[in-house]
Amino acid sequence: MCGIVGIVSNKSVSSSIINALKKLEYRGYDSAGISTLNNGFIDEKKCSGRVENLEKILFQNPSVGDLGIGHVRWATHGVPNQINAHPHSTDQVSVVHNGIIENSDKLKKEYEAKGYKFKSQTDTEVITIILTDFLKNENLVDSVYKTLNKLIGSFALGVIFKNYNDLVVGARRGSPLAVGYGHNENFIGSDSYALKTMTNKISYLDDGDFCLLSKEKVEFYNSDKKKINKEVFELSNEDNVVDKGDFKDFMSKEIDEQNLTTKKCLNEYLDKSRNEINIYNIPIDPNQIKKIRLIGCGTAYHSCLMAKYWIEEFTSIDVESDIASEFRYRNVKLNKDDLYIFVSQSGETADTYAALEKCKKNNVKTCGIVNVVESSIARLSDFVLPIHAGPEIGVASTKAFIGQMLVLLLLTLKISKDRKDIDPNVFKKLIDDIINLPDLIKETLSKQKEIQEIARDFINAKGTMYLGRGYSYPIAMEGALKLKELSYIHAEGYAAGEMKHGPLALIEDGMPIVVLAPKDRYFEKTISNMQEVIARGGKVLMITNDKSKTLSENIRFKFELPDFQSHISAFLLTIPIQFLAYHVALLKNCDIDKPRNLAKSVTVE
Ligand code: AGP
Repeated sequence: MCGIVGIVSNKSVSSSIINALKKLEYRGYDSAGISTLNNGFIDEKKCSGRVENLEKILFQNPSVGDLGIGHVRWATHGVPNQINAHPHSTDQVSVVHNGIIENSDKLKKEYEAKGYKFKSQTDTEVITIILTDFLKNENLVDSVYKTLNKLIGSFALGVIFKNYNDLVVGARRGSPLAVGYGHNENFIGSDSYALKTMTNKISYLDDGDFCLLSKEKVEFYNSDKKKINKEVFELSNEDNVVDKGDFKDFMSKEIDEQNLTTKKCLNEYLDKSRNEINIYNIPIDPNQIKKIRLIGCGTAYHSCLMAKYWIEEFTSIDVESDIASEFRYRNVKLNKDDLYIFVSQSGETADTYAALEKCKKNNVKTCGIVNVVESSIARLSDFVLPIHAGPEIGVASTKAFIGQMLVLLLLTLKISKDRKDIDPNVFKKLIDDIINLPDLIKETLSKQKEIQEIARDFINAKGTMYLGRGYSYPIAMEGALKLKELSYIHAEGYAAGEMKHGPLALIEDGMPIVVLAPKDRYFEKTISNMQEVIARGGKVLMITNDKSKTLSENIRFKFELPDFQSHISAFLLTIPIQFLAYHVALLKNCDIDKPRNLAKSVTVE
């Protein structure tokens, strides 16, 4: 939700901090700030808005110093203004924080009673004050340790100190924090992505850990204040630095590369010569699995919903899909014969992570399907299946959704084959269809212009609906989410068969409606639902691979997909609904890569 960076170096750090903050803006961009230690004094500068606003301040009044911390914020406590921006400092300490301190009100009262004054409305400021108070009588490590023990809630912290002019401190509980190793300099960051341009050697703090960085070394402590060692990972360089290339924004680039990312993913998982899916050591014998539960948030949840249909179709296993923020609090019966699959692009979503923790505590088997293999969810899962989509920067998830569905379909087929639930010939045919997928996606991508033209129908709409049945229903849900989060137009994804149970009342003359109608076993029924909508004045954008002309006279526009087998319809239906949301948002001059109120990774609940 927020981005943190800290650097201790043998040279000035402010420009490196600003560059790292720019890479972290996808996590939050309400406000930004930096603190450096300049000749023994804490120099704090911060502002509302984007990192570029902070850069303008530094241009007028540079920050000096070879150690410092920086922050980009997605507001949880306190409006996004300069006072509430991080860092939060006293003359002794400066703190940046990602997470939520749940007992901050109580702590604020406790320290106001001691005579401390608070300037902001944030929860974070209590950390600054408590640290300042402990430092009066304790050494650094004890002050940090005792402060952390007073906090209830989640945090990733970066801290600098007036009286420790060679140290940056990091701490983690529930919100991710990485440590990067440089030459005569060391770093902390909310994720490895922020540090990748400075180093490829990374360690990760676990919950309860804190660390002391000097330019020569890093000391790690666990929640018992015991010194510990941390494994050092070497990050792959293949996607070291990501830029938009010739694209106007990251989202259009990430939509456009979906044929390549699916091809890369298939190369990772498919053994075409042996017609085999390279997914082994599933943490539970596929023949023993009684139930599969799929858990995720937002778009990742929609990929779970899609996989539920495939698992029902191709296996004899019972299956359930759950929204993580519900699953984590429900009195769900967890069974050792069930497989729990957590889907998350970032691998840092707090609700999904908490749901995974709940399963780990109950010793059931878990699988993480992520795009970031160094992420918290990946590291906590018994078994990880990367989607190999490359960094996804646009806040609206596109290529990761396709990647999540692809890995879920491959895992489903692998389990089905291992259980002998699927006929070998059917399996082979499905693999052949999947091998064709990148080319089918590429062909669909080439029809972007048709969607660009129809997008105008939506820009003044009061609201719209996306309708689908069976495999098309999860994509209807995803299409509605895409339009909402990019264009701020209200949209609902609905099971087409449900329309007559109420939502049909919403349809009024001229209302744009998206109907997903692949030639599958639901086609005729979906067409009937579509006619009900048209009869009430709905202007239908029909997305289908049906080539007949009979329907076209009374629909607003028919987007024709290439021919495909119905089991992979979800992948191809997804492309036009991504383009639709993109072009409507573009026509409305909305921010494509950073929609209002959102963040790429929701690392607080
Ligand atoms: C995707 O378009 C959304 N921005 C959002 O719903 C996202 O899918 C959700 O927050 C889950 O994120 P994750 O995949 O990183 O866990």
